[in-house]
Amino acid sequence: MNSCRVCGNNLKEFINFGMMPIANSFKKTIQIDEYKFQMSVGFCENCMTVQLINQPDPVKMFHENYAFFSSSSNYMQTHFREFANKVIEDRLLDKKSIVVEIGCNDGILLENFKERKIISVGIEPSKNVARIAEKKGIDVINEFFNENVVNQIVKKFKKADVILSANVICHIPDINSIFSGIKKLLASDGLFIFEDPYLLDIINKNSFDQIYDEHVFLFSAMSVSYLANKNDLELICVQPQKTHGGSMRYTIGHKNAHKIDKSVVNQISLEKTNGLHLFKSYCNFEINILKIKVELINLLKILKSENKTVVGYAATSKSTTLINFFGITSDLLPVIFDTTPNKFNTYSPGANIPILPYSLFHESDPDYVLLFAWNHSEEIMTKEASFMKENRKWILYVPKLQVI
Ligand code: TYD
Ligand code: ZN
Repeated sequence: MNSCRVCGNNLKEFINFGMMPIANSFKKTIQIDEYKFQMSVGFCENCMTVQLINQPDPVKMFHENYAFFSSSSNYMQTHFREFANKVIEDRLLDKKSIVVEIGCNDGILLENFKERKIISVGIEPSKNVARIAEKKGIDVINEFFNENVVNQIVKKFKKADVILSANVICHIPDINSIFSGIKKLLASDGLFIFEDPYLLDIINKNSFDQIYDEHVFLFSAMSVSYLANKNDLELICVQPQKTHGGSMRYTIGHKNAHKIDKSVVNQISLEKTNGLHLFKSYCNFEINILKIKVELINLLKILKSENKTVVGYAATSKSTTLINFFGITSDLLPVIFDTTPNKFNTYSPGANIPILPYSLFHESDPDYVLLFAWNHSEEIMTKEASFMKENRKWILYVPKLQVI
């Protein structure tokens, strides 16, 4: 039996992607026998949480050289600045306030609090990104979030006025221990606000590439509400976000400490209208994933037979699922260009497709560009407008296959 990480009930499997590599394991040399894990996804009919059935050891994913730098997109910089400003205004934060972030990465969110002299504590297990946050003057604890970290913070400062997290909570398998830690760390009127890719967007846009080793949970308002309740907390507000192709910002407080916003009831009812409480909706999702697989592979094969050049744009974590599950090899896609320096001149996880610096993209003279960072399509298409005008086309696969 596969047990739900939230409530212990039996998980019902709806898709099995087979053996998948670690999404961010970009390698300096070609590796044939790299580490892989069985990636399948299950739904819990009791608490409504969608989750990976197996997950690799977290140490294999968030380590010394974690390849994801949050500050790699302009849109994300603006998003986090606005997020911080809203929290500061709504909670009237000042120099005496303390904000804690779980998984602060390179400090892209906390730096905005630091600038306003608010005590900013980041918890970040990956050393390389933690060092960058530290250089910004942020107090960084280089560990995974746990009870010991909670005690350290409360002893050194006080309980947190605000606990934040963006694209991190859905990474943590032992989710009840995180929520019980938050229960202890949060001041009596404090708020825990987190964002993660949103299940309803993933289903409606068929953005199945959001499923990879790090994303152990695909949350919804229904499942987060259950999880909060189980840990004597309460979901009090939800606000949809554009980031990562559709995310949700969840605001949580101690039980009965705050008025519950109507957005919670409205969102849960929208989720039910869309069938997120029914196993059969996930079976349909699987059918849609298999359909796009056939369509994209056919297109790449046709383009190859016509001697067209296709290159990949942005070696995202997401692309690892698509490339490996669809069986895309370097003869269909010879190269991917990316702006992240520590991905330059590496090979993609599993498929060993070369990753080259973005500076070489314009010299590559492609006929077609497969956009893996489809969630940044506005920013990227604007940036590349004049280059793409020269008789080149984008290939997009979310929400459906499009050549434009
Ligand atoms: P993101 O969508 O945040 O990816 P993930 O699936 O990993 O969460 O995109 C980040 C990656 O995309 C990162 O490797 C940098 C790359 N990228 C580019 O190469 N060019 C761009 O213009 C943008 C916005 C991202
Ligand atoms: Zn459950």
